[in-house]
Amino acid sequence: MKQKLVVLTGAGISAESGLKTFRDSDGLWEGYNIEDVATPEAWHKNPSLVQQFYNERRKAVLEAEPNKAHVLLAELEKHFDVQIITQNIDNLHERAGSNNICHLHGEIVKSRSTRNSDDIYPISGWELKMGDLCKSGHQLRPHIVWFGESVPMIELAAEIVSDADVFIIIGTSLQVYPAAGLINYTKPETPVYVIDPKQITLNNKQVHFIQEKAVAGVEQLFNLLIN
Ligand code: APR
Repeated sequence: MKQKLVVLTGAGISAESGLKTFRDSDGLWEGYNIEDVATPEAWHKNPSLVQQFYNERRKAVLEAEPNKAHVLLAELEKHFDVQIITQNIDNLHERAGSNNICHLHGEIVKSRSTRNSDDIYPISGWELKMGDLCKSGHQLRPHIVWFGESVPMIELAAEIVSDADVFIIIGTSLQVYPAAGLINYTKPETPVYVIDPKQITLNNKQVHFIQEKAVAGVEQLFNLLIN
């Protein structure tokens, strides 16, 4: 029976693939205010601006490549039962070859009906436009959890974390709940590895902090775990 490795990733793991993080880019998100592009109110007020924002980000994701941190996490599946829980909406974990991925905040390469949130479609290419409709004729929106919307996968994620033999946190400022609260679900004896170039303080006694960028940190952790 392979040990259960649970990995919580944030924007920092995709930074070395050229995708900007949220809180490192001076509070603006690619030059937009969050409330103008990533809330239900923004969608109601100016859906075309919201579509444009996510089209630009989708283009960047499609032009980016998974980096060595994504690839090594996929590699770890040979040695462990690996479950990725990501806050990222990019598809770099999938493209690196990871198989068990839970997207807490949605997926930028998918759209969903504004009428039925379970009616989800892949987006071919980088653009989702006003006038693109679901099969029941309603407008399609990005399949993203906007600020103020519920995070349907959080219960499943908490269950996965509570079952972890090792919990790894990579590239997240742990500022956004409920994702940031997942660390509280680990068993008391579960070792926790945190990889981040910035000092992250956590009041969990089992934390091993690797103060590195994702690629260097995951390389270090990979060798630690498989030897
Ligand atoms: N390697 C690893 N970590 C990095 C790197 C890197 N090369 N560069 C930056 N970081 C770290 C930063 O130090 C920071 O701790 O990645 C973290 C990025 O934090 P945020 O920008 O807050 O991103 P994240 O934690 O994923 O945000 C969570 O907030 O904006 C919402 O829904 C959005 O999913 C997102 C959520």
